[in-house]
Amino acid sequence: MKQIDPCTLVLFGASGNLSRVKLMPGLFRLDALGRLPEKMAILSVGRGEVSQEAWHADIKGMLDAKFKKGYDQEVFKRFIARNHYHANPPTDPNAFEKMKDVLSNEAVFPQNLAFFLSVRPSDFAQVVDQLASVGLTNEDKYWRRVVIEKPFGTNLPSAKELQASISKHLKESQIYRIDHYLGKSALQNILLQRFANTVLEPIWNKDYIDHVQITNTEMLGVGDRTQFYDATGALRDMIQSHVLQTLALTTMEQPKALTPEAIRAEKIKVLEAIRPIPVDDLKHHAFRAQYAAGEVNSEKVPGYLEELGDSSSVVETYAALKLFIDNPRWKGVPFYIRTAKRLHEADTRIAIRFKKAPLQIGEGQHQNWLIIGIQPRECIKLEIESKIPGLDINTRTIELDAANRQDGDESVDAYEALLLNLMEGDNSQYLHISEVEAQWRLVDPVIEAWAKDRAPVHQYPAGSRDPEASKVIFEAEDQFWRYSIALGGDTH
Ligand SMILES: NC(=O)c1ccc[n+]([C@@H]2O[C@H](COP(=O)([O-])OP(=O)(O)OC[C@H]3O[C@@H](n4cnc5c(N)ncnc54)[C@H](OP(=O)(O)O)[C@@H]3O)[C@@H](O)[C@H]2O)c1
Repeated sequence: MKQIDPCTLVLFGASGNLSRVKLMPGLFRLDALGRLPEKMAILSVGRGEVSQEAWHADIKGMLDAKFKKGYDQEVFKRFIARNHYHANPPTDPNAFEKMKDVLSNEAVFPQNLAFFLSVRPSDFAQVVDQLASVGLTNEDKYWRRVVIEKPFGTNLPSAKELQASISKHLKESQIYRIDHYLGKSALQNILLQRFANTVLEPIWNKDYIDHVQITNTEMLGVGDRTQFYDATGALRDMIQSHVLQTLALTTMEQPKALTPEAIRAEKIKVLEAIRPIPVDDLKHHAFRAQYAAGEVNSEKVPGYLEELGDSSSVVETYAALKLFIDNPRWKGVPFYIRTAKRLHEADTRIAIRFKKAPLQIGEGQHQNWLIIGIQPRECIKLEIESKIPGLDINTRTIELDAANRQDGDESVDAYEALLLNLMEGDNSQYLHISEVEAQWRLVDPVIEAWAKDRAPVHQYPAGSRDPEASKVIFEAEDQFWRYSIALGGDTH
């Protein structure tokens, strides 16, 4: 367990959705697990006036909603005593000066400060400017850290602009950029399984691997977030961040040490080694589609364009890319990555297909697959060919299927892990600016080309498997989407 300095978490946007569902309950759980230092305070900052009593009642409501089975009242008392509220009206030119005065009360607020900006992305730069203008980003005596929520920009130029603005006041070591997938234990496990086992590393390369599929699919549609979604799309929302981070963890070289600097250095290297997607041959490298009306869980559901109420939208709810990594380990290996809403199943996984075995026994012999399940099942599976007992020589596929999660294991939400890392000063599960920029540099040309192409987008029925037309991105005739983690999920 790492030592945590006494500190204050200043939470902007504490009344918002993210705070209610993840941050406040996450902080409470850390307190219950004994992971918060005794001297740790939380100052929630919002635009409106709210009394201390009303704020405490609001927090109780957040915890009641999250922990339906109840929670420890002793921990609750301790947690509530850590919590304070401060109104920071945007109309008051001295608001940040007043907040600084409040924070200067050392008896209540330890002076190491972490500012969590759970506000609109358009406000990130301005809040950092204002914090700096009153000296709150200054690390002369105590540490000062700033968490920037996702998304960090909406393309490469806007990410660079945000970076230029905040780096006027903050060193890279003070900036904690969130991709909450990195807080998931299952994602952290990719590195551990790769490098803490002798058997995997020797086959983890172009000599043994035919191709890799990284998948993130949902059965849900866009729900009531149609406007947000139509301004974003699947590529920007999921691939630019979570899926490319999963790819980086799957493909990076072994870090020299398990330090934040060494881990991030290897992730940056591999992200920067991904070959740019050729826009002049986009149709063989990228595929997009939108869900049409269909059936999910035996219920009829409308299509994306109907939900949006705008039939001219070309924004994708299904996005697939083929990528190559130009380094010695991965030369020539295609990486197929995809994300979709309203597909036949919800699953996040890495599926690795190995090359053909030296001994080909007969028809129907499958190539080996190694699958790392991230969500909902945290597992590692290996499919191997084995003789069917009997007089003849025939093979069938059997699986070694191991759950990574066992009964009684702690279930930690990604935000709990990230909040703890923030207080510990460990930014290895947060994004370095070079990672963010490499990710935007890769997807921007595709997003721009797709936005320009106003032809109607391919439709797939909600609840169906991958659109047949998406196969156009595969390199070889015998490659196709693995549609399920289950044995047999690699059949056409
Ligand atoms: N919710 C999620 O699951 C999720 C997931 C990924 C990323 N994020 C990111 O996390 C951040 C917070 O998300 P959220 O869903 O919690 O946002 P939210 O509920 O819309 O708003 C967060 C807070 O921002 C303040 N705010 C809202 N509208 C404002 C306005 N017009 N002017 C100034 N302040 C305003 C409000 O605080 P006060 O009224 O108290 O000032 C509000 O509580 C965003 O950057 C989002 O992109 C959220």
